This record gives sequence, C-alpha cells and structure tokens, in this order.
Amino acid sequence: MLLSSKTSDLKKRMREALQGGGSKAIESQKSKGKLTARERILALLDPKSFHEYDLFVAHAGKDFDMDKKFLPGDGVITGTGTINGYPVCIYAQDFTVAGGSLGYAHAKKIVKIMEHAMKLKVPIIGINDSGGARIQEGVNALAGYGDIFFRNTMASGVIPQISVILGPCAGGAVYSPALTDFVFVVDKISQMFITGPEVIKTVLGEEISKEDLGGARVQAEITGNAHFFAESEAHCFEQIKQLVSFIPWNNENKAKPFPKKSPKRQYKIEEIIPVDPAEPYDVRNVVKSLCDDSEFLEVQERFARNIVIGFGRIGGQSVGIVANQPMVLAGVLDVDSSDKAARFIRYCDSFNIPLVTLVDLPGYLPGVDQEYAGVIRHGAKVLYAYSEATVPKITLILRKAYGGGYIAMCSHHLKADFVFAWPTAEIAVMGPEGAANIIFRKEIVEAENPEEMRKKKIDEYKEKFANPYVAAAYGYVDAVIEPAETRHFLMHALEISQNKAEQRPWKKHGIPPF
Ligand code: HXC
Repeated sequence: MLLSSKTSDLKKRMREALQGGGSKAIESQKSKGKLTARERILALLDPKSFHEYDLFVAHAGKDFDMDKKFLPGDGVITGTGTINGYPVCIYAQDFTVAGGSLGYAHAKKIVKIMEHAMKLKVPIIGINDSGGARIQEGVNALAGYGDIFFRNTMASGVIPQISVILGPCAGGAVYSPALTDFVFVVDKISQMFITGPEVIKTVLGEEISKEDLGGARVQAEITGNAHFFAESEAHCFEQIKQLVSFIPWNNENKAKPFPKKSPKRQYKIEEIIPVDPAEPYDVRNVVKSLCDDSEFLEVQERFARNIVIGFGRIGGQSVGIVANQPMVLAGVLDVDSSDKAARFIRYCDSFNIPLVTLVDLPGYLPGVDQEYAGVIRHGAKVLYAYSEATVPKITLILRKAYGGGYIAMCSHHLKADFVFAWPTAEIAVMGPEGAANIIFRKEIVEAENPEEMRKKKIDEYKEKFANPYVAAAYGYVDAVIEPAETRHFLMHALEISQNKAEQRPWKKHGIPPF
C-alpha cells in the first residue's frame, strides 16, 4: 500500500515535470516547425535507450518573481543512451521552458552530463535551442556559460563533442558549439549570432533578418561555423547517426571497423580524371571510387569548396580524407580552405583516424585579398597540422602538386608514411607555363618567334619536371602506381600502419598559427 502510494506520487511528479512548458508553449514550438526537446532526443537515440537524469532539478532564480515559477527540469533535458549501439551522453535545451534560457541549475545539469561523458569516455551531444543567458539570474547565468566553456575545452580531443543548433543560439551561448568538434544546423530553424538584429540596428543602424544574419545557410556556406547542413530535423539526426559510425568513442580508441565492401561500380577510377591538367573534375568521384560502398560523409560541404574533407572507410577502416577540389578555384589552398583542412586534420589526429590526402592543386591562391586576409598565417595551419599529426598518413598525388601546395598537402617532408603518385602527377615548383616564362624569359624575348620559343620551352620544362619520376628518383614518392591499383595500395598501407607509433618531442603544447 505504502509502495503504491509512493509510486503514484512519483508518477504524478513525473507527469508534471514531463509536460515541459505546457501545451501553449509546445504549440508555439511546433508552429515553428520544431520538435520538442524530448522528441528530439527520442528521434536521435536508439528506441528505448534514453535514460533521463536530473528531471527534478529545481531552478535557482529568486528575483523578478522567479521563485514563484515552476520550470520543469530547469529547461534542459539530460541523460544517456545509444546511437546504433554507440553510447552517448546527451542534453537538449527545452525552449518551451523559459525559452530554454540558461540559468544556474540549467548550466549545472549540462556541466554534470559533460563531466559524466568525460568519465565514461563517450561522446557528448548538445542540442541547443535557447534564448541565451537567463536574464533574471544575472551573473549566475554568465557563470554557467563559463563553466560549460571550460568543460568544452577540457573535453576537446578527449571525447567527441557534437553540437546541434535547433533554434536560437545567441550571444555568448554560441561559444560552446564553437568549442566543440562538429556543429549541425537545419535550414530555417538554426540561428547563431553574437549580436542579434536589434543590437545591430541600434548600434549600426542596419536592418537585417535573423536568417540573413546567422541562419543555417550563412553558417554552413559563409562563416564555416557549421559542419553539417540539413534540410530538416529528421535529416539532421540521420547525419549525426552517420557521423557517429565513423568516429571512435574517445581518444583512446579507434573507430569501430566495418565489414569490407567494394566501391560502387559506377565510380570508375580510370575515367574520372582528365589528362589535361587544366581541365576540372569533381574529386569527390575519386573519393567515392576509393571508399567502401562509395560511402563518403562530407564535412563542411558548402564552405571553402576548393578543398573537400570528410570520412569514409577503406577496407572497413575509418579514414579522414582531405582532397583538393579542382572544380572550385582549381583546388588552390587559400585562407578558408587552409582553415578547414587544418582543423579536420587535427580532429582525425586526436581521434586516431588515419589520414588519406588526395593532391591536385596549383599551390596557394595569389592576390592582395588573400595576403591581407592572412594567407601566410592561415596557410601555415595546414603545414602545422600535418607535421604534428602522428596517425597513419597516406598521400596520393593525382595530378598537379606545385610549389608550397606540394609540400603542404602531406608530403614526405611533413612525415607522410606513404606517398603514391599516378603517372599523371606533375610535381614541380610551379606550372610549366609560369616556370618557362621566368627561367627562359631571355631566350623567349630574344627569339625570332617568341611564341614558338615559349611553346618549345614549356614543352622542355614539362618533359623535365611535369611528371612524378623526378620526385620518385629522390624517394619523395614511394611508388608511381596505376589508378586502378590505388585502392589496393591504400588498403595495404592502412593495414600495415595499424600499429604505427611515432614520437614527438615533449612539450606542454605547441603554438599553432591559430
Ligand atoms: C529569460 C527568456 C530569455 C532569456 C527568452 N526568454 N529568452 N527568459 N532569459 N534570455 C523567455 C521569454 O521571456 C518568453 O517567456 C519565452 O522565453 C519565449 O520567448 P519569446 O521571445 O516569446 O520567443 P520568440 O519570439 O521565439 O523569440 C526567441 C528569442 C527571444 C529570439 C530567443 O526570446 C530573444 O531575443 N530573447 C533574448 C535573447 C538574448 O538577448 N539573450 C541574452 C543573450 S546574452 P514567456 O514567459 O513570455 O513565455 C547571453 C550572454 C551569454 O546569452 C554570455 C556568455 C559568455
């Protein structure tokens, strides 16, 4: 009798807590095309795997009549569960409760689940949908953010951190996602900005909509803050599930191996690359021709498209792929593509994911804009990240590898373990045209027919340097291989590198060109 009355009391309390902000607030949430926080967690995790904690945590607000308010779970749901069998810790801000605003207790719940994830060594997923610091709680709300940022930094490189922006994420709140590994956004739902349109209007007199200021497209295409762009919440959850399958639980493990699968027949590696080095092609087709089942999860697909990064599997093993994209700006390295590649390289290195680099680029992008934007500083990040990385590093030179681009794209000089080149590779200080114009300038100018002489000298230069054999003669290329043999070489290189152990000098940490 006693037990059943206690149980029914528990049930009553749970019913109250689980109602979130109530039917009106839930209706408003739905009218914006959004799921509720609890629905989101249930849609993302394996059925019946979610276990919620701290449901009865009470909010800590005392001022502005807050002590009279009941805020279920203080506007955030926390717990553990699995995604395709992988354990994760998770939290989701509940916008129906005080706009998902972050008060003292709300922040403590997030910190607690983050610390849990660190102890259990499993990924942490944060679903953001919040009006930011709870204004009524003043400095305690700010303190809460500070506590979260510190945990984000401590967890960086230890456990995977995934941020999902499914509503507003404004003001200082944006810095938690920015400190995490992967940020997911959904079209017409996500909003991220430091200062909102109202502030911009007041301070600068400029009018801009929330969407144009920090909507999903802006974050995925212009700023590069977002790594995955989805059309809907359901699509976003599918992307997260796919990502989780490629990465390990923590930095002491490797990603789970999958059964080996051949690439799809439609991707014929010999037919993708035009022999003319000036002709563009989509390097993603080369990637798909190399990956198991041609499955490739592209990261930052819409940002700095002159470089392609993402995850695939080769012979069942997860790899991080970095590839110049000749279809966009001839695949040059510039400020944004350097930034994009360097961060991804560091991610893979932190989480024991081997790196496969596909090279076809004319070098760093020249121009005043790039110099002023800091291409020296940003470009150096790629050199730093590759040099620092100790995971297996396998490089394949497809076509052009000119100048600084040759060195930067994981050459032997930055300690690649294997460098392969196709017969179409051209490894030189610069392209034949530019080189001939400089080193044979005198002969060209003084020739009876300068144009003919230029052509002759370009051909001469091509004959001498525009091939992989000079680099191979110095051992900078380990093997010149036929395109059809590529997957075989990559699989062998990955297999034989399983136990790679490479030391670096002791240091507290380096000083990368951030
Ligand atoms: C307390 C908040 C809140 C907040 C929203 N609410 N934001 N309560 N603190 N920060 C409450 C509202 O009062 C309302 O309560 C409910 O949540 C829903 O909000 P609405 O405004 O009705 O919703 P909507 O029209 O969808 O607009 C959402 C919004 C807007 C764009 C997020 O609420 C807004 O602009 N909020 C303030 C955003 C902000 O400036 N935050 C502080 C950022 S500074 P009722 O009871 O009416 O339902 C910051 C500093 C962090 O975060 C620094 C860390 C280093």
